[in-house]
Amino acid sequence: MEKFLIRGGAPLEGEIAAGGAKNSALPALAACLLTAEPVTLRRIPRVRDVRTMERLLEHAGAAVEHGEAGVVRVRAEALGTPEAPYDLVKTMRASSLVLGPLLARAGRARVSLPGGCAIGARPINLHIQGLEQLGARIEQTHGYIEATAPDGLRGGPVHFDRITVTGTEDLLMAAVLARGETVLDNAAREPEVSDLAALLIRMGARIQGAGTSTIRIQGVERLAGADHTIIADRIEAGTFLIAGAITGGDLIVGGCQPEHLAALAAGLRQAGCDIREAAPDSLHVRRLGRLRAIDVTTAEYPGFATDLQAQYMALMTQAEGISFVTETIFENRFMHAPELMRMGANIRIEGRQAIVAGPTALSGAQVIASDLRASASLVLAALVARGETIVDRVYHIDRGYERIEEKLSRVGAQIRRVD
Ligand code: EPZ
Repeated sequence: MEKFLIRGGAPLEGEIAAGGAKNSALPALAACLLTAEPVTLRRIPRVRDVRTMERLLEHAGAAVEHGEAGVVRVRAEALGTPEAPYDLVKTMRASSLVLGPLLARAGRARVSLPGGCAIGARPINLHIQGLEQLGARIEQTHGYIEATAPDGLRGGPVHFDRITVTGTEDLLMAAVLARGETVLDNAAREPEVSDLAALLIRMGARIQGAGTSTIRIQGVERLAGADHTIIADRIEAGTFLIAGAITGGDLIVGGCQPEHLAALAAGLRQAGCDIREAAPDSLHVRRLGRLRAIDVTTAEYPGFATDLQAQYMALMTQAEGISFVTETIFENRFMHAPELMRMGANIRIEGRQAIVAGPTALSGAQVIASDLRASASLVLAALVARGETIVDRVYHIDRGYERIEEKLSRVGAQIRRVD
């Protein structure tokens, strides 16, 4: 199993760039199932979850080709087996994103229930309720969702009891081919939802309000192919901004849209960093002396992203004072805390709240990654820890970060991948 060997202490300096957003690439690839024509997607990151989604598309009958760096061409001329098998779904919860498109295009879908993951139960009941609102008949048997809509889906009102990102995306993709109008109420406002809507509109869908809590969709007969470049990965970019802050470096983070990182930038400024736009798509981060402990509470976009919570907690171990890190989205997203404590961090968990006392001198240790963003948190802590850290099970980090060790090495980090 591959590991990272990291020696801490080097401030990161220079330029580093985020790639295309993993959480845009996944729904965009699923959307290719909605048309028989070829779709070209650009800036697709070569990460494990993208490969899993590509295998799901091929299993359903689509052809997937890779062009020059970051270009993927998908053609779903006919969907022979509209299903997502357990052996693929169990490795990636976001597989539920094929449910809406398969149902909309083929009139039926058989998708394995995802099961839980490290950060929580991750149910998809809201996806199912929404699809039933559009006329789908859905049963759950033997760990699979069997969905049918023999005479197609019909538009209607869908209300989400709580905001769900992939739930909104699944319903968006189902509604674009439904008969009549669909209104998604309490929809997710994440930039990745807006990016998916932009692709669907390029394919001929009629959508208003993406990026707001109410999205209106007028169903159309069929969708055409398209050529679409997905947005930059705000979570990868945010991870690099925190890397610059935690190492006391001076870093320009390219490939990021500053408005997507407003909540993190506000937190970093309050904590004592200088963050400024270096160009329309890049931010410059420098630490201005000692870090201050600043509380954060995760929330749906445009609030502080839950996907940056673990990375921010690593930073707060180096800040002066007590900080409260509150996680409101997932019920078990503090798996990184015990590993950070093994490196010397002073953290107490009380329900949804982590109380971090700093600054503490971290020392390198053998640590184990448990999920994608917890892994990133351990890498950040290792960059500032005294001595060597071994981060095991780095396949978790490869799910959402493309060659992170190469990118970090180029700005001064002492990190290498070993078997
Ligand atoms: C998306 O997951 C992201 N994944 C996650 O990123 C991200 O953490 C999450 O949104 C929140 O921003 C992708 O976009 C592929 P949710 P998703 O549905 O859609 C509950 C990463 O690290 N819920 O918005 O699965 C759910 O349990 C990943 O890149 C239901 O109860 O998250 C959670 O508590 C991790 N029923 C809350 O809602 C449902 O049917 C928000 O989940 C759906 C969700």
